[in-house]
Amino acid sequence: MLVLDFGGQYSQLIARRVRECGVFAELLPHDVPLDEVARRQPKGLILSGGPASVYADGAPALRTELLELGVPVLGICYGMQAMVLTLGGRVEGAEVGEFGRSQLMVSEHGRLLDGVPAEQSCWMSHRDTVFEPPPGFTALASSTESPVAAMEDPDRGLYGIQFHPEVAHTPYGTQILETFLRDIAGCDMAWSAASVVEEQVARIREQVGEGRVICGLSGGVDSSVAALLTYRAVGDQLTCVFVDHGLMRKNEGNQVVAAFRDHFKVPLIAVDAEERFLARLAGVTDPETKRKIIGEEFIRVFEEQAERLDNPRYLVQGTLYSDVIESGGGTGAATIKSHHNVGGLPDDLEFELVEPLRTLFKDEVRQVGAELGMSDRLVWRQPFPGPGLAIRVVGGEVTKERLEILRDADAILQDEIRTAGLYRELWQSFCVLPGDLRSVGVQGDERTYGYVVVIRAVTSDDAMTADWARLPYDLLERVASRMINEIAQVNRVTLDITSKPPGTIEWE
Ligand code: XMP
Repeated sequence: MLVLDFGGQYSQLIARRVRECGVFAELLPHDVPLDEVARRQPKGLILSGGPASVYADGAPALRTELLELGVPVLGICYGMQAMVLTLGGRVEGAEVGEFGRSQLMVSEHGRLLDGVPAEQSCWMSHRDTVFEPPPGFTALASSTESPVAAMEDPDRGLYGIQFHPEVAHTPYGTQILETFLRDIAGCDMAWSAASVVEEQVARIREQVGEGRVICGLSGGVDSSVAALLTYRAVGDQLTCVFVDHGLMRKNEGNQVVAAFRDHFKVPLIAVDAEERFLARLAGVTDPETKRKIIGEEFIRVFEEQAERLDNPRYLVQGTLYSDVIESGGGTGAATIKSHHNVGGLPDDLEFELVEPLRTLFKDEVRQVGAELGMSDRLVWRQPFPGPGLAIRVVGGEVTKERLEILRDADAILQDEIRTAGLYRELWQSFCVLPGDLRSVGVQGDERTYGYVVVIRAVTSDDAMTADWARLPYDLLERVASRMINEIAQVNRVTLDITSKPPGTIEWE
């Protein structure tokens, strides 16, 4: 199924919902070249919602050719209005808009509304309104402010709904989408994590043949799933390289090695590069300089290993569908954002990329991971930045001692958050150590002068915005007292209550 994006805020969500129904969906810009559409041989098109008015200057237009491909088309909100405008119905700006919950009254079920109640709530977000469907269409439903809230012309395979079936506030939305996908477009609803594994394994085999493959494993869920898919496809032709830069969390390196080398039996080279990285970070405090040094050093270590392996031709990367969409909607060549490259590998490395997650959203990557036998702990790992703890020792030099303190504090926080069952609800939870800051305390009648630990925990959907997590007071109290009791150098614990914006998630 192709979802054509007319600029709506829910376009990605439509694609995700379609996939949840068991149908592979791709999101493409509304003006994607027609041959790109044809090449994909879609079973149908969904036209997304979009900006306020079809009559606005620069409003994205709907090309009639898209309605004549011989596959069913479902227009949602703006998508329906654009269809009406293109085919000669009447759409006009209404005096009042319709935003939020509304009541849908079905006058005729037709094919699209088959099986839904005659009256139901639905979610609306529009000002332009369809007053008359184009010739040949039947109006199926109305709502408080929309004389035509659903319409269809089954002979031409054209369907439109004013409300948003993709949001949770439209209780029958999924059922309507399913009707469109299965009964109207004839999709077989068989797409699943298991089918992704099968398909990607076949693709990787086809791409790589007898070639050798290298993968920079970070321990994060994306590179782990990409590596395991590749391993399943080409076995020992793959070698993973795990660069331990000494900036990982407590026991993280051991866990990665145990999971991949011991459990999954993936050929893995673990490089202990702590000393190299710390030597280069000595005396450095500027955040961007740290990132640059870590990036450069990572490439150096990685290149050395690639050379030792006689330079494999292929490189596995965990690029996700959200990166592909961000970099131009998947129609052109991939431009990979630097921080999505493992440790920031530059473009001029002479590898051909293997990107088995290019079509998947993050939650689907987790499903595929589970399907491949990854533990919950690996699959549900919170994101962790490439430069690791180096960007969490702030305002002072990154030293081995400070990293140890931070690692211990972080381990206590993670432990308590997991025990409280809150780990998965948080986008990220971690500690920050202001490196040069000391605070005065009193412990056992003695004056102390120790480090301050900052607790940072946020909820977020995509890291673009984030809210500080309202952790329970008793949890915070346990964490603070454990940190001070168990880590000799720490005598004060604080909580960061800044959202993003104005703050960023990390401190640097
Ligand atoms: P900020 O701090 O910008 O972070 O709100 C957004 C998300 O990106 C992660 N992050 C990084 N990831 N290399 C990475 O691989 C980096 O240099 C980097 N800086 C931030 C951060 O942990 C959060 O999830």
